[in-house]
Amino acid sequence: MALIAIFDSGVGGLSIYQQVKARLPNFDYVFVSDNLAFPYGEKPERELIERVQHVMLQIIQQFHPDLVVVACNTASTVVLPLLRATHSTPVVGVVPAIKPAALASQTRHIGLLATPATVKRRYTDQLIAEFAADCKITRVGSRELVEVAEQKLRGNPVDLGLIEQILEPFLDAGDCDTLVLACTHFPLLNNEIELIFKARNHPIKLIDSGVGIANRVASLLAEQAAGLDGQSTSRAVFTRELGAQFGFTQNLQQMGIAYAGVLK
Ligand code: DGL
Repeated sequence: MALIAIFDSGVGGLSIYQQVKARLPNFDYVFVSDNLAFPYGEKPERELIERVQHVMLQIIQQFHPDLVVVACNTASTVVLPLLRATHSTPVVGVVPAIKPAALASQTRHIGLLATPATVKRRYTDQLIAEFAADCKITRVGSRELVEVAEQKLRGNPVDLGLIEQILEPFLDAGDCDTLVLACTHFPLLNNEIELIFKARNHPIKLIDSGVGIANRVASLLAEQAAGLDGQSTSRAVFTRELGAQFGFTQNLQQMGIAYAGVLK
């Protein structure tokens, strides 16, 4: 069996799962959501690091995956070196796609949409200094947009007015031509975000890390992938019982993921 674990605080990891699964369809997958500690986006760094280390240990002990994707910018920008130093299992992190955004932007004005923690991280500043030093960066940190994505995946209506309010600093800046979705929850709202920019006649290119991560995972697991064919399974585990969230389990099923209870 060859197993990839994909881990996030909440449903954001599913945007990464979709890309990795499309690239490597024959692997087994376990999607792990730390819904007990959700959201990560405003946690103090020390608390977040301890929490992620704890969940990572549980994932490795319970599932023995071939590779773990930390499908969360908020966590990856602060805990990756420690995880790699602690575990021999390969760990792939998701960090803001500043480099591809800088390559794509014509106007040299890039929007950065992430959690409040990610927009302030030193790691994010370093990425900008390294790859986008000649660009103006408009940063918006939003906790609410994470919640909108959570609600969408639970089958609840999406409040376009609220999303438009959150996007206002980018919409206001007429020359912002590239928007980095630096939280894995946000590509789940791609259609809504595009619709809002379109309605305001504002051309925008949305950039996220999904395809880049899928390529990275595929290159690390090339050997295992070569030996795989046949059936694969995907399941989802949580750090807290889901309870009666019918819309959510239905959405998981539609993605081919079986609900598999609580992480031990
Ligand atoms: N999906 C996570 C990220 O990519 C954050 C969500 C949260 O605040 O828990 O940053």
